[in-house]
Amino acid sequence: MSVPRDLTIDGPHALRGRLRVPGDKGMSHRALLFAALADGRTRVMGLAGGDDVFRTRRALAQLGVTSTIAGSAMTIDGRGVDALTEAVDVIDCGNSGTTIRLLAGVLAGRPFLSVLTGDDSLRQRPMARVAQPLRAMGAFVDGRADGGLPPLAIRGGPLTGRHHSLAVASAQVKTALLLAGLQADGTTEITEPAPSRDHTERMLAALGAPITRVDERAVRVTAGAPDAFEFSVPGDPSSAAFWVVAATITPGSELVIEDVALNPSRVAFVDVLVRMGAAIEVEATGERLGEPVGELRVRAAPLQGTIVGGAEIPWVIDEIPALAVAAAFADGVTEFRDAGELRVKESDRIATVGDLVTRLGVAVESGADHLVVRGGRPVCGALDSHGDHRVAMAGAVAANALEGECSVRNWRAVTTSYPEFTQDLATLTGRASL
Ligand code: S3P
Repeated sequence: MSVPRDLTIDGPHALRGRLRVPGDKGMSHRALLFAALADGRTRVMGLAGGDDVFRTRRALAQLGVTSTIAGSAMTIDGRGVDALTEAVDVIDCGNSGTTIRLLAGVLAGRPFLSVLTGDDSLRQRPMARVAQPLRAMGAFVDGRADGGLPPLAIRGGPLTGRHHSLAVASAQVKTALLLAGLQADGTTEITEPAPSRDHTERMLAALGAPITRVDERAVRVTAGAPDAFEFSVPGDPSSAAFWVVAATITPGSELVIEDVALNPSRVAFVDVLVRMGAAIEVEATGERLGEPVGELRVRAAPLQGTIVGGAEIPWVIDEIPALAVAAAFADGVTEFRDAGELRVKESDRIATVGDLVTRLGVAVESGADHLVVRGGRPVCGALDSHGDHRVAMAGAVAANALEGECSVRNWRAVTTSYPEFTQDLATLTGRASL
């Protein structure tokens, strides 16, 4: 699918119809990794097609895991973690924090050398949060800035389970330590300052791995492996969030998003938007690998400002670019507090989301861990993704709702998670193409 380098969008164009967004990115990474740890053949349907998940698949291929694609299904032939073999070259994780951090957990227990790197953005992202606890379990982990930045060099070996008390609520760190814990002697327990997304807990438990939730902030594993499985990945709520905001802020819109993941740790953005006045209905229709799945229905509605902070932040962390656009179109002030983690995402999202909203002519204040948006009257501007897929999509959603022509520079970043976004926007708005 060809994706333009920059995108020009004229608006406003209401969004109408039904849509299925690409498969959940976090569950796609996990499905591939868990399949590689299992002994047997796994089939995964509807994997996310963006570059991030491709990086995990290619990394596993470098480690000796064979997978084949037939139509929308991928078959992975797992032979257990002991069958992984040393990669002959550096593993390039591209833009994907989930790939590098989760793989670090797997490789910490493998008795060979692995070198993990990534693009300009990933090489600036903090890795001490995985390097230090993996060292404490017995792995050799080094990297730039004493293991603080990629490239990371890991020589794995025998691991010992222990208790980790995390300084930040991070599902990537928690999952890395759980994957190391599945290979460790004894019990590995992780306590978070606030609950982060729990896909790993739900999926591993559904696959028979020895994982136990201690309480909502703590989880425990002992040595073991998941079973091979069949899984149809539900749609990604973080991708759906852009359409939910687009339909909310564009008059005349009415949209149904089908077969989307409804894990509570991922759909808290719906609660924030409803608090702001949005007209959204959520209907759960079933469960797959312990993950609730269903439908989101949304109609255009006027919005008011709100406050988002505290324990809500880890559950909306990827949706703040979309929520900031909603805030720009809302009456009154919206505050995102306690959100310092935004500074270390695919871009410094306090800076890049702040820049996006400013370019829409809306006043913004920011600090180390907060972003304040004084909403009201956004206007078209020359927007820039700064190479961040979610900032790109947030820009497109704002542009689609505004009178006149807006541009989004560096639009191609969208391919990280949602290469089909341009086409889906055209379809939902009745344009022949974009
Ligand atoms: C993810 C966890 C979150 C999120 C990221 C995906 C995951 O990161 O921002 O996009 O799949 O576990 P952190 O764990 O660093 O908060």
